[in-house]
Amino acid sequence: MIIEPKIRGFICLTAHPKGCEQNVVNQIDYVKSKEPVKGPSKVLVIGASTGFGLASRITSAFGSNAATVGVFYEKPPAPGKTASPGWYNSAAFEEQAHKAGLYARSINGDAFSDEIKQKTIELIKADLGQVDLVIYSLASPRRTNPKTGVTHNSVLKPIGDTTFSNKTVDFHTGKVSEVSIAPANEEEIENTVAVMGGDDWEMWIDDLKAAGLLAEGAVTVAYSYIGPSVTEAVYRKGTIGRAKDHLEATAFKISDNLSDLHGKAYVSVNKALVTQASSAIPVIPLYISLLYKVMKEKGVHEGTIEQIQRLFADRLYKNEVPLDEAGRIRIDDWEMDEDVQEKVAALWAEATDETLPQIGDLQGYKKDFLNLFGFDVQGVDYEKDVDEMVAIPGLV
Ligand code: NAI
Ligand code: NA
Repeated sequence: MIIEPKIRGFICLTAHPKGCEQNVVNQIDYVKSKEPVKGPSKVLVIGASTGFGLASRITSAFGSNAATVGVFYEKPPAPGKTASPGWYNSAAFEEQAHKAGLYARSINGDAFSDEIKQKTIELIKADLGQVDLVIYSLASPRRTNPKTGVTHNSVLKPIGDTTFSNKTVDFHTGKVSEVSIAPANEEEIENTVAVMGGDDWEMWIDDLKAAGLLAEGAVTVAYSYIGPSVTEAVYRKGTIGRAKDHLEATAFKISDNLSDLHGKAYVSVNKALVTQASSAIPVIPLYISLLYKVMKEKGVHEGTIEQIQRLFADRLYKNEVPLDEAGRIRIDDWEMDEDVQEKVAALWAEATDETLPQIGDLQGYKKDFLNLFGFDVQGVDYEKDVDEMVAIPGLV
């Protein structure tokens, strides 16, 4: 079929298999252009099909020759209906990994469930014995807690007494408008922490450890975000930030639990990037379009693969892992650079419908958004008939 983007708000209902494949190949090429990293050898990536998780899987495999197991929750294709992009990404990744002689298997299902944890445990037990790195990179609007059966829905709201108001942009039209978000109540805060906090990460590590699947010195990493003051009320000091606080606190708990193995849990604070998860957060797309402009002009812009390659090469697999005062790894250092932030803050004050096309990188935002779904990727012939029924070779 001929596949075109079908955009509805901040999602796209279609995905292009060839475009997704090209994106994966480009990421692999980037990693291979860098010095190999003496990194992990057997890796489990939870949330492995898009964004930072996919970049982590690619960096492990093609930067350190690691065997990888990927867990994700993606929609398979049906005749005449495309799969979700993470499905096609994973198919392309596995094909490339197998071609390179690397072990790669995938599990598609709800990572929050006991069933998928058990399935993953059985696979690792049978095929790898143990893993020495576990990347936790889930982004989800809801989670059913397997112990209680309760389904929690997350919200993106400020916390406190005041309604948050600031600028935001519809990145399709370039229209800048004012958005107002009323504060969350206690229940909404708790639910968001239940979804995006560290509870499930801890369950995964507990289960893997109990099954004897964590190697001596095993490391686990989850991803967090801090960001600037303009997004603080709705991000870091809002409900999602509360969940990130919980995630960061969980790292210390997990590290304690892993101490007998000389293992360690880290949180890495990453840069703001266009992913399916971040496109859905109010205010963030406007911030990202200004940030991209400034960082590209300074020559310090990075995408997910550049971020994760740097995480492995310059942070995780350095002799000593450099940490901030709160014990976190920082690869948002170039984003949070004082000069970058001053410039973004000045642009923020000026941003209107009229000025944004000049002062912001709306084009870059839109392109990255389309790229997430395999569209607008250089070298792909979109006029050509493609088979939507792509299989993931190592799907368990
Ligand atoms: P993403 O939307 O690209 O990736 C989410 C992944 O989770 C996908 O592989 C998806 O299949 C998987 N997933 C979602 N629900 C699942 C479920 N129930 N079971 C199994 N797999 C499931 O998101 P992104 O942006 O890569 O986010 C990953 C982490 O990075 C999140 O913790 C996010 O907060 C963090 N982060 C994101 C930043 C950004 O700007 N995008 C910045 C800093 C941190
Ligand atoms: Na991810």
